[in-house]
Amino acid sequence: MNECDPIEPKEGKEPIIEIENLRTQFGDTVVHQDLNLTIHRGEIVSLVGGSGSGKTVLLRQMLGLTRPAAGSVRVFGEEINRISSDHLQQLRARWGMLFQHGALFSALTVFDNVAQPLRELRVLPKEVVRDAALLKLQMAGIGPEHARKMPSDLSGGMIKRVALARALALDPDLVFLDEPTAGLDPNASESFVDLIRELHHEMKLTVVMVTHDLDTLFALSSRVAVLADKHIIAYCAPDKVVEFKHPFIETFFRGERGQRAFEALPENQEYKKEHE
Ligand SMILES: Nc1ncnc2c1ncn2[C@@H]1O[C@H](COP(=O)(O)OP(=O)(O)OP(=O)(O)O)[C@@H](O)[C@H]1O
Ligand SMILES: [Mg+2]
Repeated sequence: MNECDPIEPKEGKEPIIEIENLRTQFGDTVVHQDLNLTIHRGEIVSLVGGSGSGKTVLLRQMLGLTRPAAGSVRVFGEEINRISSDHLQQLRARWGMLFQHGALFSALTVFDNVAQPLRELRVLPKEVVRDAALLKLQMAGIGPEHARKMPSDLSGGMIKRVALARALALDPDLVFLDEPTAGLDPNASESFVDLIRELHHEMKLTVVMVTHDLDTLFALSSRVAVLADKHIIAYCAPDKVVEFKHPFIETFFRGERGQRAFEALPENQEYKKEHE
């Protein structure tokens, strides 16, 4: 893997996710080979890669939903493919996930979607579940007047917010977001980015996010991991990752949109002037 200068991880940082020599295979198709990735507490890591390169499958590996053919996946220091299902269940309460597709149960109200992970714990009194679900909705910018609505009555931006509230229901330390701003118009996308930034700060979250959206990527990421050729080919701060020589990186970041998002970074205003 190509790390940045200075070589990370920095001393004293606590690794939350450690993936070593991961191999993922479906039948004859090898999706990941010799894949290594370490994510530290408090980071916002964006995972990018071509369609079908294995980003969603990599998140599923981190969640213990897909088993590796070889290699190890440690989350919160636990080898998630070797622990008991009870133990995995306990770990699951420490992370939240916003799925790429079907983020909400369409047959449940907004409120019930967010309350469901809390109810599954089977220990919380009804009033506590109610207050916690309404609080999470409020944090995600959804007022109580929407609580009884069905997902089909919501806009795309609201669905993402409710799905985020659901992912945050159990006060996780870690959240996984698969294409959180895909399909949103630029305003909804920008306000979702602000929301993630705010929650990251307030809840001291570690965020692992898959995104094709360069504005989101540059606005939020502490580091960007690039998945190509079945492994992580570069893992750097956003302004450094664009400098890597690889066909995927060149196409992805140096297209017109990528250039615009890159130049909009405050530290690149000088660069922009020089190149005008
Ligand atoms: N359960 C499965 N069985 C067989 N093949 C699978 C399975 N899940 C994923 N794949 C294959 O693994 C590869 C990677 O899929 P994945 O969904 O991770 O791609 P992705 O990078 O998330 O793509 P996109 O950007 O389109 O969401 C694809 O070729 C896909 O067909
Ligand atoms: Mg995907």
